[in-house]
This record gives sequence, C-alpha cells and structure tokens, in this order.
Amino acid sequence: MDVIIRPDAASAEALTAEIIANALRVKPNLTLGLATGATMEKVYQRLADMNKAGALDFSLCKTFNLDEYVGLPAEDRNSYRYYMNYHLFDRINIDKRNTHLEDGTAADLEAECAHYEQLMDEAGGVDLQLLGIGLSGHIGFNEPLSSFSSRTRAVNLTPTTMAQNGPYFDPAKGEKMPNRALTMGVGTILDARKLVMLVTGERKADIIAAALEGPMTSMVSGSAIQLHDDCVVILDEAAAAKLTLKDYYRSAFENDPKWDAYRNI
Ligand code: PGA
Repeated sequence: MDVIIRPDAASAEALTAEIIANALRVKPNLTLGLATGATMEKVYQRLADMNKAGALDFSLCKTFNLDEYVGLPAEDRNSYRYYMNYHLFDRINIDKRNTHLEDGTAADLEAECAHYEQLMDEAGGVDLQLLGIGLSGHIGFNEPLSSFSSRTRAVNLTPTTMAQNGPYFDPAKGEKMPNRALTMGVGTILDARKLVMLVTGERKADIIAAALEGPMTSMVSGSAIQLHDDCVVILDEAAAAKLTLKDYYRSAFENDPKWDAYRNI
C-alpha cells in the first residue's frame, strides 16, 4: 500500500483525479468503480473539467458504483444515481448505458445484487475502484462486521452512518434517509485490479488511522484494503493527523520513481 499525504484537500483531490485520468488515458475502455459522498464531488468536478477541455475521453469507459440506497428511485435527489448524473455523468461524454448502479427499487433485491455481480463479471471486472471511508469505517456501505469475502448485497446502516448522511435529507420536504442500502461487498471491492482511496478532513483522522495502521478487522471494513497489493491512499494533512508513520510515507512518495509525474500536482 502507498499512502500519500498532500498539504490540503484540493491537492489530494487533484492527485486523485490525475491518477484516474491517467488510467483512462492508458486504457480508454477502462472499467471504473466509483464512489459517492462529499469527498468525491471535487474529484468529479476536475474530471469533468478535463473532459470539457478535450483532455479526457469517457466514450469507451464503463462504470460501476459501490452502492445505492434501498427504495430511492433515480430521480430522487438523494439517490446515488441522481448524485452521479449530477456530479459526473451529465457533464462528460460517457454513454449512460455504460454507467451502472445497483437498483435500490428492484422488487427482488437479492436477484438485483446477483445481477450486478454478473454485469461486473461480463465487463471483465473493475480495473480501478475509487473509495472513500465513512465514519463507521465502511467502504461502500460495508458496515462493521461485514465479511471480508462479502459480495454485493442488501445491508443495514449503522447509527453512525445514519448520523453522517442523515443531514442530506430534508424532513421539511418529506425526505427520510433509508436505513438499508445495496452495496458491493468487501470481497467484491478487493477483486478490483487497483484501489484508490481518498480521505480528507479532520473528522476522518481516527478512522483512517485505524483502517491503515490498525489490525485488519471486520469491525473496520476499510482495514480490508491492507489485503490488496495495488492500493494507494491519498490523504490531506488533516485526515493524516493520527498516523504514526507519516515521515516514512512522505519520504516514500518523494523517492519512489513511480510518483515522479505526480509530485507537483
Ligand atoms: P463522505 O462519505 O465523502 O461524504 O465523507 C464517505 C463515506 O461515507 O464512505
């Protein structure tokens, strides 16, 4: 695992966007795993800007998102399909038929999850999976005690996650956060050929330290990325505050030739 610490959130987001952009330039028909949440909004903004400037082509790209709320249709402004259309898909030259999220309104959720796994298989698997981490330690919506071999399935959200995402829902407009979601499993995520995790902000400092430097445990699903052999974690200083090996991560980033093209971003 590589851990890269950038001075602020903007440079962490820029570096993340550049890694994704370069992967797409190397493989125009990349299968990209995508994540939602506040952390990713600026990354998508940067990718959309590159596309607009003619510097990045999504026409052959396929995408699979990590998760979706149960019960929210695409047109609901709190659904992750809505988020993805708004923040990325409607701003780039991607063929919407190549963009996938679980359907949280499916009558048979188990069949929907099996179908989603099948679609990923048929696409040849995910080349690069973008990840955040939640305050509960989740990747996707894999809450504590999710098996490291779990696959796409329906899950129950923890009080921590309900508190983290609840403020996006406006009760005055009749909005209520679902307490269930469909998510790629931890095992599904680990099958991606490359993992790129972006974590910013002081409030994530404890959980990311537990995930990266603590023991691997299903109590912190994000710790499962320690099992992956091609994984980079990009942090801002605030999120990196509780890491014990910061100096080592900094010198590795400065000295490793594979990061030569990324140091000035
Ligand atoms: P956030 O969500 O980017 O809104 O903090 C990340 C997550 O919960 O996985």
